[in-house]
Amino acid sequence: MRFKKNILCIGAGYVGGPTMAMIAFKCPEYKITVVDINPKRIAEWNSDNLPIYEPGLFEIVSSIRGKNLFFSTDIEKGIKESEIIFVSVNTPVKEFGLGAGMAADLQYWEKTARQILKFSQSHKIIIEKSTLPVKTAQAMERILHSNKKGVDFDILSNPEFLAEGSAMDDLINPDRVLIGSRETESGIKARDELVEIYANWVSGERIITSNIWSSELSKLVANAFLAQRISSINSISALCEKTDANIKEVANAVGMDKRIGNKFLQASVGFGGSCFKKDILNLVYICRHYGLSEVADYWEQVIRINQYQKERFILKMMETMFNTMAGKKICLLGFAFKAETSDTRESPAIFIAQKLLEEKAELRISDPRALGNAKADLAGSKGVIEYISDPVEAAKGCHAICLMTEWELYKELDFKKIYKIMEKPAFIFDGRNILNHSELFDIGFNVFSIGMPLFTHL
Ligand SMILES: NC(=O)c1ccc[n+]([C@@H]2O[C@H](COP(=O)([O-])OP(=O)(O)OC[C@H]3O[C@@H](n4cnc5c(N)ncnc54)[C@H](O)[C@@H]3O)[C@@H](O)[C@H]2O)c1
Repeated sequence: MRFKKNILCIGAGYVGGPTMAMIAFKCPEYKITVVDINPKRIAEWNSDNLPIYEPGLFEIVSSIRGKNLFFSTDIEKGIKESEIIFVSVNTPVKEFGLGAGMAADLQYWEKTARQILKFSQSHKIIIEKSTLPVKTAQAMERILHSNKKGVDFDILSNPEFLAEGSAMDDLINPDRVLIGSRETESGIKARDELVEIYANWVSGERIITSNIWSSELSKLVANAFLAQRISSINSISALCEKTDANIKEVANAVGMDKRIGNKFLQASVGFGGSCFKKDILNLVYICRHYGLSEVADYWEQVIRINQYQKERFILKMMETMFNTMAGKKICLLGFAFKAETSDTRESPAIFIAQKLLEEKAELRISDPRALGNAKADLAGSKGVIEYISDPVEAAKGCHAICLMTEWELYKELDFKKIYKIMEKPAFIFDGRNILNHSELFDIGFNVFSIGMPLFTHL
């Protein structure tokens, strides 16, 4: 079959895999190839054991893989054959040199630009899907136009707003698709080509366009606002604990105001995920670069509160469990940074686990999807750690349970049975406020949550 267009995506991660699966699914006339430098990842995309878990992803991938969706390590061939290239490589925080711990590490991004330049033989539209600091597209443009081959490129910014755990739903039904382009004739033509792809399933009024820098900045700002709401409610949870107010009641009353809305007002042990922290750090770095120190300080505080919330959680555990953890068995229910994903990047569970290990607690970690990643995250940590899929088995003989991820299945556990097989006094620290605390108290547990009344027999 001859395809209308050949599309390449460089980077087969949490963004590249699901987004390209959706485009291939909705546009059978396009051939989509996803390439990556990591052969293991590509082998997994070509197997029944996909490298990431997202509800509905496997069904879509297996229905179109080998038809118009392909996964490969042959980057050179992919670049040569494609007319449109999405770039969704990782953009972590820089760990060295200038801007270390804050600025984006653009080495993967720049290597990709140079590869595109090296192998391109014809005009291409390059689409920035990774989240990048403002004006990165301009840098890519400069690299690509430094060629003497006479090959022309148009650069677009098309940041991805999907949330892990609901990626497929978000992709089918996005709040908006944002496309940034240059206002030149060829920039607008390239933009229209990308609009045409999304228009296969996204209604026109949800596809919005802007200049490239607004598009890049909008993605950073959207993540900063989302994280800010979590830190805002978490900061108030600390006050609730001092004053006997209940954070759920406060969040409910506040969220019913239409101007505020009730989303992202769930207090917890803190936010995680690969994006929020790094994107805010990028924003802070850019603000400092432009001399806007008040603005930088304002956004930096969102990250400080998140760290404070995790530290508060550990301090509360210590205080409650008689100021010693040595030799105590602690069950972590959940390790993923949120429910419905296998991703553990920046998960608060990593911090909590490491702190407990430093205190010489013994860990039993359970998670329905993320145990593989949990093992990798804690590989260098000293201490006793067991990984047990069955949550009831994991809690057996433990002194305390820490609920780290809001998996639905944890609400339905047989806590009467769990109580019987735990050490006494038995503690539950509900880091997501999802359990029925009064019921657990009646069973015999001492229950601690975030910003809510304590239920303790002690
Ligand atoms: N994860 C999310 O929820 C999310 C949402 C929106 C945007 N983003 C952004 O999308 C980008 C990608 O995020 P992710 O979570 O998919 O990252 P990821 O680490 O899961 O995937 C990136 C992939 O790119 C590959 N790669 C790196 N350099 C390469 C190269 N030169 N050639 C080919 N492959 C290369 C890596 O091997 C990796 O498999 C980031 O900028 C991120 O901020 C992520």
